Amino acid sequence: MENTGPLIHSTPSHASLPAAFVLAADKLPPASTAAAAAVSLPVVDLSLPRDEARRAVLAAGKDIGFFQVVNHGVPAETMRAMEELCEGFFRLPASEPGKAALLSEDKKKPNRLFSGVTYDTGGQKYWRDCLRIACPFPLDPSMINQWPDNPLGLRAVIEKFTVQTRSVGMEILKLLSEGTGLQPDYFCGDIAGGDVILNVNHYPPCPNPEKALGQPPHCDRNLITLLLPGSVNGLEVACNGDWIKVNPVDNAFVVNFGQQLEVVTNGLLKSVEHRAVTNSVKARTSVATFIMPTEDCVIGPDERFVNEENPVGYRTTVFSDFMRIYNVVNLGASLNLTTNLKDVQKEV
Ligand code: OGA
Ligand code: NI
Repeated sequence: MENTGPLIHSTPSHASLPAAFVLAADKLPPASTAAAAAVSLPVVDLSLPRDEARRAVLAAGKDIGFFQVVNHGVPAETMRAMEELCEGFFRLPASEPGKAALLSEDKKKPNRLFSGVTYDTGGQKYWRDCLRIACPFPLDPSMINQWPDNPLGLRAVIEKFTVQTRSVGMEILKLLSEGTGLQPDYFCGDIAGGDVILNVNHYPPCPNPEKALGQPPHCDRNLITLLLPGSVNGLEVACNGDWIKVNPVDNAFVVNFGQQLEVVTNGLLKSVEHRAVTNSVKARTSVATFIMPTEDCVIGPDERFVNEENPVGYRTTVFSDFMRIYNVVNLGASLNLTTNLKDVQKEV
């Protein structure tokens, strides 16, 4: 068997797919149907008058559960610079000191470089390398100094990008709280007050994309996620028993709700399952920005989302417990994790 080493991208090219990455036949990425291929994610223009933007965000969120935002205030230059410097990071040799120092399997390390997935996957490997960066807010220079700065400028752009992207996330949360009749700052406390985590995902060209996945079907466990999708496609979203291939519009962020938003809204805003596929030709780099609750934040269905028609549907948990308990993904070709969050919670 070919030895990939700890990182997939440190081998210049892969002649064949190593066995650990080969998915069982029933977990293979099925071809999208024509119906799913024709679906595109709603696009919300955040520069619309506020009442229109509020309606559009809520409608888009309730529709597929994934949507794109444009005119969001993050300059196109910042998005390009972030993409280019992150791609540059993955072009550096694995022996580059800054990179070698970050290489770690220790999930407790806030900043690290690793291969595989964030979740426990029972030994199944996925065709992805990942640079994880923790950004505590307000930003603290002692943490910033731990971020990589090769290519030169990477550290500064991470800082700028994270501050600006977090603001877009907070603005979307404000629109959602207003749209659901809550006070505008409803989601601004501890529930969004934890670290912002960046996953810089890198999917090298895969020798056999039909037999592997870049990320398994999963729901994000945080509050809300904004994805800088990069110029190569690969994200797929579960919809009506099928997978939609996301084809982002220029300068958009792809937005989805994490499981904490599903729990707190008692299922009004669903956290939708998604996965990443690979291709054999082009490397793909994407940046997921996760807005997280604080570790000790207690999250359960808010009484304002509970009534006779919608009885309490989720458990109340401390966020750090939730992260520990829900550390296993439904491996392979699952399409029903979303609707199962309630059921899974019953079993715990
Ligand atoms: C993630 C994720 C999708 C992508 O990092 O949680 O779902 O397209 N990424 O890289
Ligand atoms: Ni995700």
